[in-house]
This record gives sequence, structure tokens and C-alpha cells, in this order.
Amino acid sequence: MNTHTTRHSAQSHLSASLIAYLEDLRESGVDGIPAELVSPAAEVESAPRRSAVQEQEQECTMRDDRQDVPELHETIEQIRKDLGPCQRCKLGTTRKNLVFGVGNPNARLVFVGEGPGADEDAQGEPFVGDAGRILNRIIAAMELKREDVYICNVVKCRPPQNRPPESDEVAACSPFLLRQIASVKPEVIVALGTSAAQALLQTKVPISKLRSKFHDFHGIPLMPTYHPSYLLRSGGNSDSFWSVWDDMTQVLQLLKLPVPVKSRKK
Ligand code: URA
Repeated sequence: MNTHTTRHSAQSHLSASLIAYLEDLRESGVDGIPAELVSPAAEVESAPRRSAVQEQEQECTMRDDRQDVPELHETIEQIRKDLGPCQRCKLGTTRKNLVFGVGNPNARLVFVGEGPGADEDAQGEPFVGDAGRILNRIIAAMELKREDVYICNVVKCRPPQNRPPESDEVAACSPFLLRQIASVKPEVIVALGTSAAQALLQTKVPISKLRSKFHDFHGIPLMPTYHPSYLLRSGGNSDSFWSVWDDMTQVLQLLKLPVPVKSRKK
């Protein structure tokens, strides 16, 4: 291996670690890094930081602008057909496969993730890679089967380098997500991670503050929880793992399903 290749692979490794670290920070509720730390030369805006109350106020105002879940009943197949070989946003040009959704079209419970990763892009199905294995374990721990629930994402095409979807991409895709939810008519929605929770609730409040309680999504109770990829990085018996289990316990209770007893290993 020559010096150039070695340096290039060290840089890729470093940027992959940095991306994972920043994603962990975002998932654990850190919603920004001071600009002077990112770029010492950058001009720092002097706008004061918004308080939690201001964030909540913004959440309420913004939620009034939300698009309504369509009343009209259409099947999942009709919505898929209408979406077609979608090029409504720039993700259409880089994806391999559009990842529409999978599962029971009459599910009582819908899981919404952020967007497809490499495995999902290759196979055209949501949550089939490492994060999918964790989601499958969560579903199994709830004593449900993957076929019992419906699984989809905020955006249907893989963002390059698995970056969070941008607002124009979310805006282009969300009418189809709303139509999917309106078609399935679930009793509960679980938003997996920051992007899904913030996009569905139209808020910037961090996931750590949104999770553990139900929010209203057009009359459907929505439980935000940590993303399975975050659990993957934080380990199987971590506090975040047990936080997700607490959230899923509330979901099972709302659905009036038995709550399996799990004991935390010391
Ligand atoms: N992460 C997501 O948010 N969605 C997927 O489908 C896979 C990984």
C-alpha cells in the first residue's frame, strides 16, 4: 500500500468515525455544535439560543401548518403506482432502488424510520441491514412479527453517504408518507430517531426530549424513540436500549397487548 492509499483509507476511517460520533450526538439530543468549533474563521451569528419554551412554542405554531392526512381511502398499491419511478427530488438521481414500505397494509402499528441506507437501497426494502436487525429484535421482543406491522421511512430514497434527509427531500416525499399512513390507518405510530420524529411532528425539539410520551399525529398517537442504529452503537444492555423498551411498553399498553417481562442484566 503506498502512502497516498494509506492516508486516504485513514481519512475515510476518520470521517466514518466522525459521522458516527456526530450522529450519536444528534440522537442523544445535541442539536448543534458552536460554529466557532466547526470553523474558527466562520462568522458566528449573534442570535441568542432559543430556550426550550421557545422551541415548544415553535413546535405548536409549526404544527398548525402541517399537511392533513388525506381523507380519501386508497390502497397501498395505488399509492405505490402513483409514486412511480419518482424523480420529485434530487435523491431520485442517486438511488439504486426506491424503498416504499413493507408489512401489513392494515397494521395496528407503523414504524417510520429516517431513510434507506446502503442495504435498503440495494434490496428495495426498509430496515434490512444492521439497523433492521435491531428493529427486528425490538419487534420480536414485543412478541410481534415483522409481517404484523408496517415499516416505512420519511424519505424513500437513500441520501448519499447516509446523511440525514434535507428539508426539500422530506417535503417532496411527505405527501406519500401521509397517504401511506392514511391508507394503513394504524392505531399507533413509532417514529424511529431524530429525523423521523422531527419530520412527522414538524419540530426541532431533540429526540431525547420528544421520546417517552405520546404526541398527536393527526389524531393518531405517535411515540418517538431512539433510532435502532443508535442502539447498535450503544450496546444491547445500555440505558438507551432500556429507554426504547420503556417506550415500546407504552405502545403495547396503548394497543392493549401483553407486555413481556424483561429483566435488566446488571
Ligand atoms: N435506517 C432507516 O432509518 N431506515 C431504513 O430503512 C434503514 C436504516
